[in-house]
Amino acid sequence: EPFRLFVRESVESTNDEVRELARMGAPDGVVVLAERQTAGRGRRGAAWFSPPGESLAFSILVKPPEPKALWPRLALAAGLAVAEALESSGLTAGIKWPNDVWLGGKKAAGILVEAGADFAVVGIGLNVNSTEFPEGVRGIATSMRIEAEREFERGEVLAEIIRRFAIRRAQIDRDFEELIAAVRVRCVLTGKQVALLTAGGPKTGIVEGIAPGGELLLRTTDGLERLMQADEVRVLG
Ligand code: BTN
Repeated sequence: EPFRLFVRESVESTNDEVRELARMGAPDGVVVLAERQTAGRGRRGAAWFSPPGESLAFSILVKPPEPKALWPRLALAAGLAVAEALESSGLTAGIKWPNDVWLGGKKAAGILVEAGADFAVVGIGLNVNSTEFPEGVRGIATSMRIEAEREFERGEVLAEIIRRFAIRRAQIDRDFEELIAAVRVRCVLTGKQVALLTAGGPKTGIVEGIAPGGELLLRTTDGLERLMQADEVRVLG
């Protein structure tokens, strides 16, 4: 599938731009990248801060295969694509299920997947050359530059993520085994005690791994649970 890249100087959120294009009939593979987002957002309505010129903030329009139940897997495909792109730049990346990408124990990228009627928007924010972070995330955020102690060419990183995502997203209905195997070896939560916020309430337990369907396997006092989605995952130790 070809990709078409639109570069915008300033938008509220690239996810909204792509959603708008999708509603107007834009095809799969349209990418909107913004130098600046005035209302970039993360999961759970949190703000996403991306300093102009230093980070990557972009969204990809995807027309995923049915059934819709498979769509949450796009987040895993995107997180993996980012991790692989970072690795091809010489870094060691981890995936904090479902879709944060970590470098050296801190968050370097976040992914926000939003579904429309017949399309999904995969929004990716990656700290490339950033060195400063807002007060609330200082201490838990990092960038490629901080970890590697050198600068990176944003265009190259973007191209690599898009290339990897094209490969990984094709595996959400066929070859999901292969996708999951690649996520598993990078999962930073396995063996850790975590606290999760889920639709069914808060849960704590020890992560045993990732199930064949992409769910997190959590050993709680009630037994082994399989969780497909969580609003927040906190590592306790
Ligand atoms: C998270 O970790 O909570 C997800 C962060 C997602 C940020 C990206 S930046 C590009 C796209 N546009 C947005 O408004 N959000 C996503």
